[in-house]
Amino acid sequence: MNAIDIINKTKRKIQLTEEEIKYLVNGYTSGEIPDYQMSAWLMAVCLNGLTEAETVALTLAMRDSGDILDLGCIEKITVDKHSTGGVGDKTSFIIGPAAAACGVAVPKMSGRGLGHTGGTIDKLESVKGYRVDVEFDEFADIVNKTGFSIISQSGQLCPADKKIYALRNSTGTVDSIPLICASIMSKKLALNADCLLLDVKCGTGAFMKTPEDARKLGDLMEKVGKAAGKKCRAIVTDMNTPLGCCIGNSLEVKEAVELLQGKIKGRLYDICIELTANMLELAGKGSIEECAEMAKEAISSGKALGILKETIEMQGGDSRICDDVELLPKAKYSHIIYAPRDVEVIGIDAEELGMASLILGAGRINKDDEIDYTAGIVLEFELGDKVSMDAPIMTLYSDCVSDFSDAAYRAYNALKFRTLTENALT
Ligand code: URA
Repeated sequence: MNAIDIINKTKRKIQLTEEEIKYLVNGYTSGEIPDYQMSAWLMAVCLNGLTEAETVALTLAMRDSGDILDLGCIEKITVDKHSTGGVGDKTSFIIGPAAAACGVAVPKMSGRGLGHTGGTIDKLESVKGYRVDVEFDEFADIVNKTGFSIISQSGQLCPADKKIYALRNSTGTVDSIPLICASIMSKKLALNADCLLLDVKCGTGAFMKTPEDARKLGDLMEKVGKAAGKKCRAIVTDMNTPLGCCIGNSLEVKEAVELLQGKIKGRLYDICIELTANMLELAGKGSIEECAEMAKEAISSGKALGILKETIEMQGGDSRICDDVELLPKAKYSHIIYAPRDVEVIGIDAEELGMASLILGAGRINKDDEIDYTAGIVLEFELGDKVSMDAPIMTLYSDCVSDFSDAAYRAYNALKFRTLTENALT
């Protein structure tokens, strides 16, 4: 077996065997297969795709490149959720506690973000003291006590994905459905929860720009998950507009806490209920309708907020933020953008707002860049709202940028308005 034959087979659309895929993944992870041969193969996959059987084999070979967790010490049925990422997505620390409040265990490992805003781990690190590097035994202990924990992904999980993903980032081979599927699913299968809900984001602020591609990715991930023996479901949710009103790390924690305090309804709340209901239904807790009612009750009773508070406390974080969000870190500088005339907001481009947040310091361009936890944007309206002239439409925050002109220009242009005629506001 050799890498050149394997590259040629994929180039000619000839299906690879499981052994050939294992040889490629193991050879690249150990350093025997060089970057240039792996890059050539990844480009062949980008252009020609992989069959379902090849994608399953690639995912399992990547999963098996490192540790596979044994969650047998967790007493309740375990449910994991993965979102393919988007702008303002703070659902993990809402639905984790909400599902835990309904009797399942939610052990989550997440990553830091590259791009617009931080990842789930960056967001949680904006809570003073919160430890994300927790050893497995302590992680399992927290999950057994509170039902929920999020920690950063261990370096021993999927080393193959780590190496391949870095190569894809620098060779223009990220946007391939089988490669995205194998990358995400290998990590999820290594975490090894009993049930897995996949939230495939679709729209301008997401990897998948069209509903067709989002469904294709979702269906493929679902098939791979089932082939690996998991209870698995993929749902597609909209990411043309940001999720909620806050974009940026500590701002998103604040919004999540406020939602768990029962102060926020609307689209973010609805999506959280839908996701939690699907997690519970996969775990056999009832029908989707029954599970949605349980999720609502978990939030309205304050039980989910109590679980988040207890988890933050066990991980060393300042859990008082669950009672008083004003204790979260705040930016030194802010800038308000006002409505230029009486308008109706008819479009919010999630990707552009994400780019404006990046300029403010909320995200990273390179993986070692420092992040500004306080930076971001708060929208003062929802899609379809009418705003009168000179009312605030959004506020920009930053600790590291005091000249807001670039970010404000980009953020303002992310909005689409319809001018209202006289009296249309009433
Ligand atoms: N997230 C991942 O973990 N991998 C991809 O390939 C894309 C998104």
